[in-house]
Amino acid sequence: MGMKEGGKGPSRIFRKSDQKLLSRGTLSSDPKSKSPKLTAFRYELVRLAEPDEFSPDLDILNTAEHVAKYLLTPPESDELLTGTLSSNSSGIVYNMRRAIRNEKAQDFLDHLNKYNNLIARYRRDGTIKANIARMKTLPFPLVEHILSQAYARTVAPEVESLKDYEAFTSNVYGELLPNFTTKLFKESGLGPDKVFVDLGSGTGNVVLHAALETGCEAYGCEIMKNATRLADKQKMEFAARCRMWGINPGKFRLEKGDFLESARIAEALKRADVVLVNNYVFDSELNQRLLNLFLDLKEGAQILSLKPFVPTNHVITTRNAENPVSRLRVEEKEYFSGSVSWTDTGGKYYVQTVDGSMLREFLASDRSDRRRR
Ligand SMILES: C[S@@+](CC[C@H](N)C(=O)[O-])C[C@H]1O[C@@H](n2cnc3c(N)ncnc32)[C@H](O)[C@@H]1O
Repeated sequence: MGMKEGGKGPSRIFRKSDQKLLSRGTLSSDPKSKSPKLTAFRYELVRLAEPDEFSPDLDILNTAEHVAKYLLTPPESDELLTGTLSSNSSGIVYNMRRAIRNEKAQDFLDHLNKYNNLIARYRRDGTIKANIARMKTLPFPLVEHILSQAYARTVAPEVESLKDYEAFTSNVYGELLPNFTTKLFKESGLGPDKVFVDLGSGTGNVVLHAALETGCEAYGCEIMKNATRLADKQKMEFAARCRMWGINPGKFRLEKGDFLESARIAEALKRADVVLVNNYVFDSELNQRLLNLFLDLKEGAQILSLKPFVPTNHVITTRNAENPVSRLRVEEKEYFSGSVSWTDTGGKYYVQTVDGSMLREFLASDRSDRRRR
């Protein structure tokens, strides 16, 4: 972890400042490379006025804490983690936190050096690598931290550009948050042998999350220019960070263009186990066209959406038997506060499972009715 002091001297390092805060991480020479590498990244150690903005000191502190908690085990992590705010103990992470609280920049840098030396030793002797290899799944707090590191450096600084859409159209932007998507992944059984597709993937958040947390093969497709530009940036940063953390996500791919027209997405849909459509504001024509796209989904595939594709009162009849809706079994569920970016309140989501048995049963009973008549 590299670090550069921001400006005149340690005394102002933790002061709020209007200055732009970081000189960005540099990616290795070829940005098109399949395995981009973070060669160095430097922070100006300043805190911005807005509490929501990225703070390099807190990012470093959180990283140190996540490494200690999730990539090391006791007693390896003791030197980092022992101590609480009320005790006088000497845990390095605790001391870093105290230095931030007391705005003692030099103390922070001294403890950070101790942290760096210790971690360098654990990297050299293979401790961290062995611990990662033993993990069956990545703990969610670590997943969330890695995702937020990539997002904070690529999407967040330009998040305003995502509001550049035509109001009341299907391109209105909004995000599902990681604590909601992790729940969706668990409920739908995503894992390394599964395929996930996000139709309208925005800046790629959910696709990257799925690949990282579940190891699945993950695809996304997005039409809006600003979102695809940020998705490109975020995917590079994410890949580089995964490498730096020594973690292999599942294969992922972010397509640009209309998901109704994309040959790659059509192929992915044939193999998909879970399809996400954040269709909260999609117009009815787009939802109808999506239904036709779902005709190619395999039996058992699940479509997760914020608006239902199956009308609540849908009953299969001779007239609508051919409608794609007749193959979908729907379940209504509830999400809670803190799940989506556009509101703090909860709402409903829908799980539609491709289930041809309803239609087969209807056709069988319809045939026997006709025979009796
Ligand atoms: C509400 S955002 C969802 C972003 C992300 N999936 C999430 O849930 O966090 C929906 C996205 O779908 C995109 N979209 C709408 N119609 C599309 C189409 N025909 N092809 C590709 N993307 C589309 C919009 O531009 C928008 O970025």
